[in-house]
Amino acid sequence: MLTPREIVESLDRYIIGQGEAKRAVAVALRNRYRRSRLKPELREEITPKNIIMMGPTGVGKTEIARRLAKLVDAPLVKVEATKFTEVGYVGRDVDSMIRDLVEASIRLCKDKRMAAVRIVAETAANERLIDLLVPGAEKRASAPMNPLQLLLGGGQPNEPAQTEEEQAQHRTRREEVAAQMRAGQLEEELVEVEVEQSGTGSDAMLAMGIDINLNEMMGGLLPKQKKRRRVNVREARRILTQEESEKLIDMDDVIREAIDKAEQDGIIFIDEIDKIAGAQHGSGPDVSREGVQRDILPIVEGCTVNTKYGPVKTDFILFIAAGAFHVSKVSDLIPELQGRFPIRVKLSALTEQDYERILSQPEHAITKQYAALLETDNVALQFTDDALSAIAHYACRANESSENIGARRLHTIMETVLDDISFNASGEHPLVKVIVDENYVKEHLSDEFDGEDLEKFIL
Ligand SMILES: Nc1ncnc2c1ncn2[C@@H]1O[C@H](COP(=O)(O)OP(=O)(O)OP(=O)(O)O)[C@@H](O)[C@H]1O
Ligand SMILES: [Mg+2]
Repeated sequence: MLTPREIVESLDRYIIGQGEAKRAVAVALRNRYRRSRLKPELREEITPKNIIMMGPTGVGKTEIARRLAKLVDAPLVKVEATKFTEVGYVGRDVDSMIRDLVEASIRLCKDKRMAAVRIVAETAANERLIDLLVPGAEKRASAPMNPLQLLLGGGQPNEPAQTEEEQAQHRTRREEVAAQMRAGQLEEELVEVEVEQSGTGSDAMLAMGIDINLNEMMGGLLPKQKKRRRVNVREARRILTQEESEKLIDMDDVIREAIDKAEQDGIIFIDEIDKIAGAQHGSGPDVSREGVQRDILPIVEGCTVNTKYGPVKTDFILFIAAGAFHVSKVSDLIPELQGRFPIRVKLSALTEQDYERILSQPEHAITKQYAALLETDNVALQFTDDALSAIAHYACRANESSENIGARRLHTIMETVLDDISFNASGEHPLVKVIVDENYVKEHLSDEFDGEDLEKFIL
C-alpha cells in the first residue's frame, strides 16, 4: 500500500499543481488502509472521511479521481449528481451507483484471477489447438476393453483400433505441430472453433435501459448458444484461453470477494454535486434537488443496498464529491449531507505557467499524445519551448475573453495548431521531422486571434 507521500508523487506524474487536493485524497486513502489494520471492534467505528473538491471547470477534479482509481486498483465509479434530477428518474435509483460499483469490483476481481490462471489456461488452450490442428485423437488400442464390451462386440466397431505404429506417428505429428506452434509459425493457420454467442438480451431492450440477462433469469437453463467459426490460430488461442480461464475461476468466489472489495475499498466519485445544491430555481419538471440530496444521504451515511449479487453495505465506501460551486456554496447542501463530507479542498484556477507545464510534463501530456499519433504516420513531431509558451499564452487569452474552460482549452488549441500536419501526414512518405516552434504556432493560430476573434474557441 502506498504512503500518502507516494500517492501524491504518483499523482504528480499526471496532474500539475493542485497540491492540496492531492494531499487530501492521499490521506483519505491511507486512512482506509490504516483502518483495515485495526481490530474489528474499532474498525467498525471508523467511517471514511469523505471529500468535497471545489474548483472551476477543467482544473483537474475529475482527473484526480480517475488517476487515483488506477493507482490503488480500487473499484471506482463516477456519477454525475445531476443525472438523478433528470425527468423520469425515480428518486430511489441512486442505488444504481452501488450496483455499478459492484459490477466494477467484479470486473476487477475477475481480471485479477484471469491473470493468475493465464499460464495454465493458455497451456490448456494450446493443447486444444493442437487437437484442432492434428485431428483424430489418440485411440488406445491397448486400452483394456471391459468384459461386457467384449461380449457385446466391442466399443467402436467401425473404427479399427490404431496400431502402435500409427499411434507413434500421431504422437510425433503432434509434437512437430507443437514445436511449430511454439515457434510462432502457425499463427495464421485457420481452425474451426465453437464460440458462445454473447448478448442474450436484445438491443431494443438495452436501448430502453432494461438490463436483464435472459439466461441469468432462467438460472442458466437455456443452453448457451454456440456457433462454429473459422478463425486463425492467434484468435482461436484467445477464445480458447478465455474459455479455459472461465473454467478455472469460481465465479461465486469472485462475487464474494468483489462485494467485500466494493464495501471496503470502493470509491464513488460524485461529480457536479454543486448542481444539486441550493434553492430550486423553478426550472421545470426536474426532481427537486433537495430530494436528490435526501436520496443520496442514506447511501453516504451507510445503509445496505440490494443488488443482484446480494446485499452491499455502503458504510465504508469512500465518497469524493466535486463541483465548481460557482453559483451555489457547499453550505447550500442540506446539513446532514454537508456533515458527511468533512474534508473540503479547493482547487485553484490554472495559470499560464500551469498550462505550459500541462502541455508537456504529465506522463500522457497532450503533446506526447499527438507525437505518438503522428509517429504512426511517419511524422516525428517536436515542440520547441517557446511554442509551448505561445500555446499556453493563447489558451490563457482565450479563456479570459470567452468562457473559462480551464485546461480543456488546450485540446481545442492544439487541434487547430496541428490541423495541417494531421491532415497531410499519410504514412506514405519517408520519416519527416516536423518542428513546431513559436512562429508555426502564431501562423496557425493567427487567423483565429486576429481582431480578438475567438469565436472558434467558444465551445
Ligand atoms: N492540473 C492539471 N494537470 C494536468 N492536466 C489537467 C489539469 N487540469 C485539467 N487537466 C486536463 O484537462 C481536462 C479536464 O480536466 P478535468 O476533467 O479534471 O476537469 P474538472 O476539474 O473535472 O472540470 P469540471 O468541473 O468541468 O468537471 C483533462 O483532459 C485533464 O487531463
Ligand atoms: Mg469533472
